[in-house]
Amino acid sequence: MPGDVVTMDKIVALCKRRGFVFPSSEIYGGLGSTYDYGHYGVLLKQNVKGEWWRAMVQDRDDIVALDSAILQHPKVWEASGHLAGFTDPLVDCRTCTQRFRADHLGDLQCPRKPSKPPGQGPDCDLTDARDFNLMFETHVGPVKESASVAYLRPETAQGIFINFKNVLSFARKKPPFGIAQVGKSFRNEITPGNFVFRTREFEQMEMEFFVPPGEAQQWFEYWQQARYDWYVELGIRPDHLVLRAHEADELSHYSSGTSDIEYRFPIGWSELEGVANRGDFDLKAHAEHSGEKLEYFDQATGERYVPHVIEPAAGADRAALAFLVDAYDEEEVAGEQRTVLRLHPRLAPVKAAVLPLVRKDGQPEIAREIVAALRPILAVEYDEGGSIGKRYRRQDEIGTPWGITVDHQTLEDRTVTLRDRDSLAQERLAIDELPGVLARRLAAPWSSPKLGAA
Ligand code: GAP
Repeated sequence: MPGDVVTMDKIVALCKRRGFVFPSSEIYGGLGSTYDYGHYGVLLKQNVKGEWWRAMVQDRDDIVALDSAILQHPKVWEASGHLAGFTDPLVDCRTCTQRFRADHLGDLQCPRKPSKPPGQGPDCDLTDARDFNLMFETHVGPVKESASVAYLRPETAQGIFINFKNVLSFARKKPPFGIAQVGKSFRNEITPGNFVFRTREFEQMEMEFFVPPGEAQQWFEYWQQARYDWYVELGIRPDHLVLRAHEADELSHYSSGTSDIEYRFPIGWSELEGVANRGDFDLKAHAEHSGEKLEYFDQATGERYVPHVIEPAAGADRAALAFLVDAYDEEEVAGEQRTVLRLHPRLAPVKAAVLPLVRKDGQPEIAREIVAALRPILAVEYDEGGSIGKRYRRQDEIGTPWGITVDHQTLEDRTVTLRDRDSLAQERLAIDELPGVLARRLAAPWSSPKLGAA
């Protein structure tokens, strides 16, 4: 297997070419670091979120779902510590008027002398670093005054803590139990970048797992492993994934222990997801600021306590990017170059493409009949435009694991060829067998054919 050929530029180009992700507001010249998802991007990200929901809620009975509001009472952010402390150190350059993250200067380029980091060009004149709060401020209601200030949530987690009491009373759960949420978060990042890796508007997939204090360490270890395994089960190569414990000076104000699951992106090893032991920080802080008791009373033992919280916090966009990067491959087939996304079939936007060899002789009709039969069980696409080779290449580039070709023989014996995206093997199958065969293959364990590539 040749070395891994993927680069961020190739991913960006493929996403644009095949309609996964576009720069936002493009007809107006774009708005830096914001992106719009097109058809296949929506389906891919939807599948990532669907797999997360499956692992968090469908496959277990100790986690419930929540969808809290993006706009919350400003006191939420006072209690959580975000108003005072959700900041990055910012420096301005008086010469070029650009702003930079003071702790990332070494990774950045001076706009006037790109071979040097900001501050080291001949004309650079940086201010001292000052704290810059990353929350987006807005106003609720028609009057713009200090009393109407609100913030777009910078994480989904706080919406879960402030609903602890509601969920406890309606979900009939006792610790250990979790509350899971997926939704948009907003951070006015000073230096966003690297495509959808770091943007100002993004989707998070967070779960807060409430446990008796004495069980926190054990659950912290459990969730680190469970989340690592989730990525591997969905095809991320284990040699491109690592669990890294935070050093004491990296820990957030609420955390007594955090491990990042890092992926080897083309930009280097970078955080994909954080798993934190948040202790009782959040429930105590919200209890103090709201005056509500946020604790658990165990009627069986008469014990009353504030649960500790273990939090696996992932990004849906960043995870989708990692799956794309891990899947991207190029190879030569019969003297021709092909680009292929070797996505786990469960993540692939389209599972099967049905392709009539020619647009006549009753082939399109049979192909449409197959599409109708498969549609209730998996995402299927009918494609009749262009040569068969061109159509295969298009499906390879969007990661479709199976191609079903209707040809002259189909008219005679109601069989089709089934092409495998990765091995390119073709087998002849009866049309009636397709739903069962594809459903079985979709449910089967899968690992990346790229395993072992550098
Ligand atoms: N509640 C804890 C929390 O929000 P975080 O490490 O700041 O922790 C969790 O965020 C995950 O959200 C990250 O691991 C990353 O996947 C995603 N994320 C955070 N900031 C992001 C950004 N600016 N753009 C895209 N994804 C981001």
